[in-house]
Amino acid sequence: MQLAAGVRERVAAVHGGAELSELLRLYDGWAGRYEQDVAELDYRAPYLAAASLAFAFPSPPAEARVLDVACGTGLVALELHRRGFCRLHGVDGSTGMLELARSTGLYRRLQRCELGREPLPAPAEHYDAVTLVGALGEGQVPSSALPELLRVTRAGGFLCLTTRSNPSNRRYRAELEAAMRHLEQKGAWQRVLLQEVPRWERATSEEEESVPGSGYISGVVYIYRKCPVPTPEEG
Ligand SMILES: C[S@@+](CC[C@H](N)C(=O)[O-])C[C@H]1O[C@@H](n2cnc3c(N)ncnc32)[C@H](O)[C@@H]1O
Repeated sequence: MQLAAGVRERVAAVHGGAELSELLRLYDGWAGRYEQDVAELDYRAPYLAAASLAFAFPSPPAEARVLDVACGTGLVALELHRRGFCRLHGVDGSTGMLELARSTGLYRRLQRCELGREPLPAPAEHYDAVTLVGALGEGQVPSSALPELLRVTRAGGFLCLTTRSNPSNRRYRAELEAAMRHLEQKGAWQRVLLQEVPRWERATSEEEESVPGSGYISGVVYIYRKCPVPTPEEG
């Protein structure tokens, strides 16, 4: 099935390797059409991430404080709300995307923050869960931002992250997973789930298909749980 006019170009623009300030301006310009375009692309990451987090979450979600990083227009918040998570904060680098997120009324607080350049606007150990969906990718949020996500998560809290497995993101995914393993070896967090999803979203070109001829890019949901800091006696 053909993609609607302009979708391919708008997706290509944000994956075109623009420098961060330019990338965020591209998102500002895309904000008004974003939800329509990602519906066209059959983009299911917000649904898959929220369902995975809800599955892993051990206690009733209503009181859980959740930070949705790179929240975009609020698609993750919508899925989290459906599953009972309602104490949501969001951050994003694009003011255009944040305006739309604000109009949903689903976030109690929304702030602008450029991941990789500035710290998250939150105290340490503040959130029961942190989500980062659709923005861990080449040219977007660098894998070096993982420790900052961990900083604002309380010990025992959860981090729900996603990335894509299309050819132009493979190098990034390998780098991300190396950073994840490093944090696990240091005892900072433990992986709870790694879910490979073959039909993550429609590919905008044959070159970007994860499996040739499939028409789709595959992706992955990761859930990690932050470890308590060991006491000196524990070593
Ligand atoms: C593909 S959208 C995903 C939005 C939402 N999480 C979703 O799944 O619909 C990527 C979002 O990440 C934001 N973003 C990308 N890189 C960023 C960075 N380094 N710092 C802050 N926001 C960033 C963009 O502004 C955009 O809103």
